[in-house]
Amino acid sequence: MNAHFPVSDARARTIFPDDARTAFAAAYPDQPVKLSHQLADHDLLTLDALAELAERMPAASVEYNLGKLPLGVRPEDTPSNGLTLGETIRTIETNGSWAVLKNVERDAAYAALLDATLSELVPLVEAKTGPMLNREAFIFLSSPGSVTPFHMDPEHNILLQIRGEKTMTVFPAKDDELVPPTQSEAFHAGGHRNLDWRDGFRDRGQAVELLRGDAVHVPVKAPHFVENGPAVSISLSVTWRSERSVAEGELHSLNALLRRRKLPTARIGAQPEAQGLRRLLYRLMRKLGA
Ligand SMILES: [Fe+2]
Repeated sequence: MNAHFPVSDARARTIFPDDARTAFAAAYPDQPVKLSHQLADHDLLTLDALAELAERMPAASVEYNLGKLPLGVRPEDTPSNGLTLGETIRTIETNGSWAVLKNVERDAAYAALLDATLSELVPLVEAKTGPMLNREAFIFLSSPGSVTPFHMDPEHNILLQIRGEKTMTVFPAKDDELVPPTQSEAFHAGGHRNLDWRDGFRDRGQAVELLRGDAVHVPVKAPHFVENGPAVSISLSVTWRSERSVAEGELHSLNALLRRRKLPTARIGAQPEAQGLRRLLYRLMRKLGA
């Protein structure tokens, strides 16, 4: 167990204040909403703690870039910044690097932090979408001015801003003009999460400015893009799945199978988890090798 943060402390802390929990309960699962949190000064989320974490994580779970590179560079020519991974993170404010620490819940201390964070929301989530499945946590360290392009993710997500600032512009899920059904089907078949962007889309999005201590709930497959502010930013993303998000994926996959056979596809309703017959059909077709 990490000495920085015993589990008992994690459980005692209130992470989402009452007004954030009330706002989340009203918005979940379909609406994006800005929240607040009290993790910004947490011992496990300082640059030193994150550097230590990165150094004990499996290499495959840490993706990072050593700084500003030329546009075209062969992998074997990638220059070293002369720093270890830990040092790269400790000095990230001045070295122009970025890093993503994936599935930090595989580390016991961060698993306790994820549990403490989500446990405050469990009753609110379960009342709407049933058991909270597949809990995961990711930490993003991004350089000033960086942009994460227009994309969608398959999980329920809350992004907590720990340091620096960024603006996330969130768009409605299930808008066929933003994400045509065929693109959604391709996404569930393993296609890339990035989406085609048109300038006319911008007005349909809700720009949520995230300062230290702010958070945002991003519904399943609600398209979004992120623009980082002028300083290094640290964000913690906590995600989960539900029977609804799993069912939604199954029904898009079923439509993909049907479309390929030139059979009629069906609209996916507001409660895909209740479309039992179609989910059964999907499983049958999979079993039959479709
Ligand atoms: Fe995302």
